[in-house]
Amino acid sequence: MSGHGPSIPMTAQKTGPLKGVAQVPGDKSISHRALILGALSVGETRITGLLEGQDVLDTARAMRAFGAEVTQHNPGDWSVHGVGVGGFAEPEQVLDCGNSGTGVRLIMGAMATTAITATFTGDASLNKRPMGRVTDPLALFGAQAFGRSGGRLPLTLIGAADPVPVRYSLPMPSAQVKSAVLLAGLNAPGQTVVIESEPTRDHTERMMRGFGATLHIEDAREGRIITLTGQPELTGQSVAVPRDPSSAAFPVCAALMVPGSEIFVPGVSQNPTRNGIFLTLQDIGADLVLENPREEGGEPVADLRVRFSALKGIEVPPERAASMIDEYPILAALAATIEGTTIMRGIRELRVKESDRIDAMARGLEACGVRVEETDDSLTVHGMGPGGVPGGATVESRLDHRIAMSFLCLGMASRDPVTVDDASPIATSFPIFEPLMTGLGARIARDPS
Ligand code: S3P
Repeated sequence: MSGHGPSIPMTAQKTGPLKGVAQVPGDKSISHRALILGALSVGETRITGLLEGQDVLDTARAMRAFGAEVTQHNPGDWSVHGVGVGGFAEPEQVLDCGNSGTGVRLIMGAMATTAITATFTGDASLNKRPMGRVTDPLALFGAQAFGRSGGRLPLTLIGAADPVPVRYSLPMPSAQVKSAVLLAGLNAPGQTVVIESEPTRDHTERMMRGFGATLHIEDAREGRIITLTGQPELTGQSVAVPRDPSSAAFPVCAALMVPGSEIFVPGVSQNPTRNGIFLTLQDIGADLVLENPREEGGEPVADLRVRFSALKGIEVPPERAASMIDEYPILAALAATIEGTTIMRGIRELRVKESDRIDAMARGLEACGVRVEETDDSLTVHGMGPGGVPGGATVESRLDHRIAMSFLCLGMASRDPVTVDDASPIATSFPIFEPLMTGLGARIARDPS
């Protein structure tokens, strides 16, 4: 929700070995999509393992505003009674998508080809983020957007009354833009085609098929060509949400920062469009074993066992960026605690996340005594070795959950405590971060008010 509550300063102190089992919450990307596709289906969708972070709760509220019945039965166990493709009703109020770029962009796509009007807003972070990347392709379907300068929120979208199908090449690697176009294509007649030159997370494609849509996916010279046949009848499904690899990355990397640690993280998605961080950790020498690989709810998952190990910085292959785009902040924090230099290139997209994550990490690491270099699309971190990071700083989280969690993990491995000025954004994606990490032995706590 846009009303940002009081700031919650939090401090992490040098921690002994992290030990135990980390049951991280459900995947955020899949949770948003399950609610939205459930709302666009006929009949009941039952979702287990739904992430109950604020971002996803905001999407649930938006689906109700479009006429779907969305009910929580037990923690993580939800049902959606949808209104069918093209069945969205016009919301009576402004839709507040809080901090969530995924929420607002996917929802704009889902309504853009229905003849209704909706107005979207968000918190101070979301209202700074570029929306033209979504409203430009939605205009090709016939939708009209009226936002603030630069296409930013608050923004009113008038859905197309007579939508036409679209052929669109993504100008940047973005699963949100791809998904917005595909969701809009559901209610357009004929075939909507999206072309991505670099593969991005494919949960929308997988889940749309599961709900009954016809998608043809071809790997061609120009990239992945995704062809959706419009106006399918989607029917409600059972969706088991796997645990979020982007959340798992925090305890996993913390265990690699704190000497003597060994933790087990069960049931984490290993979708190849999301697993870049785990490949990178293995490349830098992590003792990270994927046990019991299996398929759950249409997604590959595995249990992760990770032990503290001697790591050495590398240049992260830039072609891997899309498959680990949300993990660069925690990788940058880890890089500060290992030997050698870690070079991360091809990461320009980090500048338009919940915060400018290259700048947020660079400034925070410098405050903690770490030497970094940045360019427009790269970040280089000079590692100080285990126990070598001075810390002793207060870092700004900039309304960005992943910045807050990255510096709390770094504080566990620094000589002096690291304070994050506001840890409240963590609730958007990983509401149990604090009890989960303290349960493993982390010394993190809210500052006395
Ligand atoms: C997401 C896509 C990515 C990612 C975000 C979730 C999604 O954003 O950073 O956290 O669920 O589609 P972009 O599409 O902007 O790359």
